[in-house]
Amino acid sequence: MKLYICKDYNEMSEKAAQIVGSVITLKPDCVLGLATGSTPVGMYTRLAEMNKEGKLDFAEVKTYNLDEYYPIKPTNDQSYRYFMDKNLFDNINIDKANTHVLNGEAADPEAECAAYDKAVEAAGGIDIQVLGIGNNGHIGFNEPADKLVSETHKTSLTESTINANARFFESANDVPRHALTMGLAPIMKAKKIIMLVSGKNKHAALMEMLSGAITVTNPSTVLNLHNDVTVVCDEDAYNG
Ligand code: PGA
Repeated sequence: MKLYICKDYNEMSEKAAQIVGSVITLKPDCVLGLATGSTPVGMYTRLAEMNKEGKLDFAEVKTYNLDEYYPIKPTNDQSYRYFMDKNLFDNINIDKANTHVLNGEAADPEAECAAYDKAVEAAGGIDIQVLGIGNNGHIGFNEPADKLVSETHKTSLTESTINANARFFESANDVPRHALTMGLAPIMKAKKIIMLVSGKNKHAALMEMLSGAITVTNPSTVLNLHNDVTVVCDEDAYNG
């Protein structure tokens, strides 16, 4: 695992944009695995600036997002489809038909998840997967549990995640209780992984992951089995 400790959120965002941007430069038709949440917003802003400056071209890039609430309409301003459009896709020259987010209103969520895994494989797999980390160590919505699920699936959110995400909703009661998430297997099949970590509240989860031990109580620890993971964190996250 490669670790970059950045001074602050802005430096972390710049570093992460450079790393993701370099993958796009080397392979203009690459497949990006993308994440939502507050952490990657600065990186997305920087990538959009690089696109406007003519330094990055998204015309042939394909994207697959990690997760989506369930049920939720894509037009709901709390959906991850809405988030991605607003924070990235509407600000770059990507073909929206090449952007994929799990369908939060799928009538058959199991079929939706199985088709998503097949689509990622058919696209040639993910060249670089962007990840955040939950306070509880989740990646995507792979929450701590007695058993972790490998394939993409419908899952229940833990109280910890509902409370952490309540800040985006009017109240914790409004946070959807379920989500569709890429499983750990498709995440681990990504050729490269970059994890962004910012803030003191992530310190404990980050330290567990960096310790190298693998545990179901912190799903991010499975990344210790991947051979190309870059963690870009800020000093608050690293020092606690
Ligand atoms: P955050 O979420 O970036 O909003 O902290 C990260 C996550 O839950 O994976």
